Amino acid sequence: MQSTLRLLLLEDTPLDAELTLAALEEAGYTVQPQLVGDRAAFLRQLDAPAFDLIIADYSLPAFDGLTALRLTRDRALDIPFILLSGTVGEELAIESLKAGATDYVMKQRIDRLAPVVQRALREARQRDEQRQAASERRRLEEQLQRAQRMEVVGRLAGGIAHDFNNLLSVIIGNVQMARLDLPAGDGVQLYLADVESAAGRAARLTRQLLAFSRRQSLEQHVVNLNDLLGDMIKMLRPLIGEDIDVRLHPAGDLLPVFVDAAQIEQVVMNLALNARDAMAAGGRLAIETANVPQEHTGVGGPLVRLTVSDTGSGIGEALLPHIFEPFFTTKEEGKGTGLGLAVVYGIIQQHNGQIEVESREGVGTAFHVYLPAAGTPVTTTGRDESLALYRGSETVLLAEDEPLVREMTRSALVRFGYSVELASDGREALQKVLSGAPFDLLLLDVVMPSMGGWEVFERTRAANIHTPVVFMTGHSAELAGHRVPPGPGVLFVQKPFRLDDLGRELRRALEQR
Ligand SMILES: Nc1ncnc2c1ncn2[C@@H]1O[C@H](COP(=O)(O)OP(=O)(O)OP(=O)(O)O)[C@@H](O)[C@H]1O
Ligand SMILES: [Mg+2]
Repeated sequence: MQSTLRLLLLEDTPLDAELTLAALEEAGYTVQPQLVGDRAAFLRQLDAPAFDLIIADYSLPAFDGLTALRLTRDRALDIPFILLSGTVGEELAIESLKAGATDYVMKQRIDRLAPVVQRALREARQRDEQRQAASERRRLEEQLQRAQRMEVVGRLAGGIAHDFNNLLSVIIGNVQMARLDLPAGDGVQLYLADVESAAGRAARLTRQLLAFSRRQSLEQHVVNLNDLLGDMIKMLRPLIGEDIDVRLHPAGDLLPVFVDAAQIEQVVMNLALNARDAMAAGGRLAIETANVPQEHTGVGGPLVRLTVSDTGSGIGEALLPHIFEPFFTTKEEGKGTGLGLAVVYGIIQQHNGQIEVESREGVGTAFHVYLPAAGTPVTTTGRDESLALYRGSETVLLAEDEPLVREMTRSALVRFGYSVELASDGREALQKVLSGAPFDLLLLDVVMPSMGGWEVFERTRAANIHTPVVFMTGHSAELAGHRVPPGPGVLFVQKPFRLDDLGRELRRALEQR
């Protein structure tokens, strides 16, 4: 039996009120009564219902129990309502039940009150449980439907991406070979350069589709997200722009996660760029981490939560179920491809994580990413220790056309201790090399518009400059049709690369000089 009973009692006769309370207390209830005697007082209580049960006297001087009952049911309040009367005849009793009364009790038979109350409360509790079960079932059904939809779209996207990759290998490989066979000044070079850069963009889209469909292999390590975010935030700020206040709120003693760092960076980047786009007039972007203890997770272990929130436009309720679908975008032609969140979704799935979104139009949006924790808290930064192995102080020319990749790679090189010179395409890189600037190493993206890293390499060799080269390749298709050149000091890193992979290849290339 429920020990305390919050009771709204509509009764004008003090003695009757006392009898009612006594009957309940005798049956073991500790009653917290709220006594009201007229319509106004009753309505005030209905405005902020804070009771488990209503007992109403049938007739009061200027009000009556049946009207009180109708007012309660009009508000769709499912609170047990018991009518109490000295004179209930059969007809009135039936009328009151029709109007939604839970039960009625004659004042002469007040001993019936306690069992009636007990049953009313039990039934109310059952209804409540059924309601909760139904809404939980609805939630699970929706979740399943969404998961199935994403699964199908993922398979489709993955299949397309795979075929596209093969086609693009052929396009990119042949165009590059054709360009190599043609004299540099040939007019056709311009057309081919356009074909090549468009194919390069298509390859990037394909990579995103692959990420979404979870067909990329992961390179997982134990990582502290706080360290990863700390590194990222510096390069995020300039990307996000001055009008937006970017804040990092790292949790103390954050549990480590077992992730592919480059992929998680991609997740943060995509979420942050979306946040920026949603805050055209400025605002606040917050990136937060927190431990979620096992007892709050509903899964077999603790989770780490990463939240990216903004004070932007928010997302309308009708759009919300679709935002993770590939090619779903509300941005104008040319501004967005609608792959950002699809990639995020794929990466999180592949990490056995979850992503949730909360949004209110005109207020802002928060994306919560949950990742399984990998074990005990890491306080030192394991990654940095391994990076220390690959320190260098030489001067590197970095040629990369994608601003985001360029900026990320530049900060990595600076962390290693290198001096960095930037080129935003191959032509610029070649100019810098040929102008006689003393570089110790060239770090070249293989596919760049205007002039690929490969051509830069061949032309520098042709000019008898033998600076070591490390090529960055997105996937093996970019190298299709190229022979790996003979000679030391020419190496490759596969994009997306981990910083230690990059560091190691740079050292190897430099040591082979
Ligand atoms: N933080 C946000 N605030 C408001 N709307 C958002 C936010 N994040 C995503 N959206 C909505 O979800 C849509 C899909 O996002 P998604 O990142 O997948 O694609 P996109 O940003 O439009 O294009 P892309 O990321 O490929 O450049 C967006 O077009 C936008 O309508
Ligand atoms: Mg986006």
